Amino acid sequence: MHLNPAAMAASAAVVLSLLLLPFATEAFNVTRILAKHPEFSTFNHYLTVTHLADDINSRETITVCAVDNAGMSDLLSKHYPLATIKNVLAVHVLLDYFGAKKLHQITNGTALAATMYQATGTAPGSSGFVNITDLKGGKVGFGAVDNGGTMDATFVKPLEEQPYNISIIQISNILPSPDAAAPTAAPSQVNLTDVMSAHGCKVFADTLLASPAEKTYEDNLAGGLTVFCPSDDAMKGFLPKFKNLTKDDQQSLLEYHAVPVYQTLSMLKSSNGPTTTLATDGASKFNLVVQNDGQVVTLKTSVDTAKISHNLIDQDPVCIFVVDKVLMPPELFKHDLAPTPAPAPAPAKSKKKHHSPPAPAAPADSPADGPTADDSSDQTADNSNDAVGLTGGRFVGVCLSLWVAFLLL
Ligand SMILES: *[C@@H]1O[C@H](CO)[C@@H](O)[C@H](O)[C@H]1NC(C)=O
Ligand SMILES: *[C@@H]1O[C@H](CO)[C@@H](O)[C@H](O)[C@H]1NC(C)=O
Ligand SMILES: *[C@@H]1O[C@H](CO)[C@@H](O)[C@H](O)[C@H]1NC(C)=O
Ligand SMILES: *[C@@H]1O[C@H](CO)[C@@H](O)[C@H](O)[C@H]1NC(C)=O
Ligand SMILES: *[C@@H]1O[C@H](CO)[C@@H](O)[C@H](O)[C@H]1NC(C)=O
Ligand SMILES: *[C@@H]1O[C@H](CO)[C@@H](O)[C@H](O)[C@H]1NC(C)=O
Repeated sequence: MHLNPAAMAASAAVVLSLLLLPFATEAFNVTRILAKHPEFSTFNHYLTVTHLADDINSRETITVCAVDNAGMSDLLSKHYPLATIKNVLAVHVLLDYFGAKKLHQITNGTALAATMYQATGTAPGSSGFVNITDLKGGKVGFGAVDNGGTMDATFVKPLEEQPYNISIIQISNILPSPDAAAPTAAPSQVNLTDVMSAHGCKVFADTLLASPAEKTYEDNLAGGLTVFCPSDDAMKGFLPKFKNLTKDDQQSLLEYHAVPVYQTLSMLKSSNGPTTTLATDGASKFNLVVQNDGQVVTLKTSVDTAKISHNLIDQDPVCIFVVDKVLMPPELFKHDLAPTPAPAPAPAKSKKKHHSPPAPAAPADSPADGPTADDSSDQTADNSNDAVGLTGGRFVGVCLSLWVAFLLL
C-alpha cells in the first residue's frame, strides 16, 4: 500500500522528535506495571525476553498495545523464532502517547503512528507504521500499514495512563504484519556497510569497505557484533589523521570500533568497564572502557571519550550505535596522551572535571569539553557536534549530534 507523503513526513517528524530524547531518565517500568495485570503475563514475559521492555523503559513518550494471554497464545501457536516475535511485538509499541481520550479524538479520525519496529532500522519501506482510525459506534481500529489497510484489531480498554510518559492499552488481538512476521534476515545477510551508509555513517562505511577490517567485521557477524560507528561529521574531521596512519594501523583503528559480542544499549548501561575490541591482539590491548554518564553511555580511550548518540540497528546478534567521535586508541595516538603518570588500567582521563560547570542551563554553544593542553591536537574535538558538558550541556550536545545525524540521513 502506498502512503500519503505528508502523513509519512508527519510520522517521520514524530520519530525524530522521539529520537531526540532517547536517554531520558526511566520514569516507569513497563514490566512492573504489567505485573499488576495477570491476564497479560505472557505479553509481559515476551517484552522481557525480547529486551523490548528495556527499550520501552528508556523512552519518554510511548504507547504499548497489549494483548491478553489468549491473544498471545494465537501468536505463539505460529512457532516463530524469538527474533520474529520481537519484531511482531515491536509493532505493538507506538512511539507516541495515545491515552483513551486521545484515541477517541484523533484529528480527522485517522492517524499513522510510528512503532518500535519502524525504529529498529530493519523494517522495510513503509512497514512499521500503525494506522489508528476512529470507527463507527465509538470503536477505535488498529491496523499495521503493511497489512493492506485493514483494521485488524480494536481498542478494548486502558490499562495504565501516565500522561505523557506511558500509556498501556489493551487491543483485541495481535496486529498481523506480514513484514514483521517475515523470516528475519540471517545475520550473514545483513550488509553492515549498506546499513551504515543509509543511516548517517557513510564515511565510516566507505572507509571500512576500503580496508581489510571489513572482512574482520564480516567474520565476527554470526557470533555477535556491536559496532560503534562514528557519525559522518566526526569521521570527516578525522580523515586527515586517518590517512596519516599506516595501512596496518588504519585497519586496527577501524577494528577498534567494534566488539565481538552482541550488546544492546541497556546491556551496555549495565556492564561498565574495560572491553576488548576486534583490534585486540595479544600484547596490543586496544581496549575500550564503557562507562555510564548519567543516562548517556560513553566510550573512553585514554585519548578521547565518545558518546553513544543513538542505536542505528539492533537485530540480534548485531547492534550498531552511532558515536559522536572517532575513538582514538592510545596504541596509535601516544602523542595525544596527557603527559600525566601512566593512566593504566582505568585510562579514563579526568579532563572533563576541569571545566563544564554543571549548570543545567548551559547553553548549546558553551565550550564545554573544549580544548585543554592535552587534547588540543584532537581534531575531532573541533567538530561542532560534540559540545559536551555535564547535565544540561551534555543533553544539548546529544540533541545536536542527533540533529546533525538526522540531517545527514
Ligand atoms: C522493572 O521491574 C522488574 C520487576 O519488578 C524488575 O525485575 C526489573 O529489574 C525492573 N527494571 C528496571 C530497569 O528497574
Ligand atoms: C485534516 O484534514 C485536513 C483537510 O483534509 C487537512 O488539511 C489537515 O492537514 C488534516 N489534519 C491532520 C492532522 O491530518
Ligand atoms: C487508515 O486506513 C484507512 C482505511 O484503510 C484509510 O482510509 C485512512 O486513510 C488511513 N489513515 C492514514 C492516516 O493513512
Ligand atoms: C513523567 O515522567 C516525569 C519524569 O521523567 C515525571 O516527573 C512525571 O511525574 C511523570 N508523569 C507521570 C504522570 O507519571
Ligand atoms: C555490502 O554492499 C557493498 C555495496 O553496497 C558491497 O561492496 C559489499 O561487498 C557488500 N558486503 C557484503 C558482505 O556483501
Ligand atoms: C601526520 O604525521 C606527521 C608525522 O608523524 C605529523 O607531524 C603530522 O602532524 C600528522 N598529521 C596529522 C593530520 O595528524
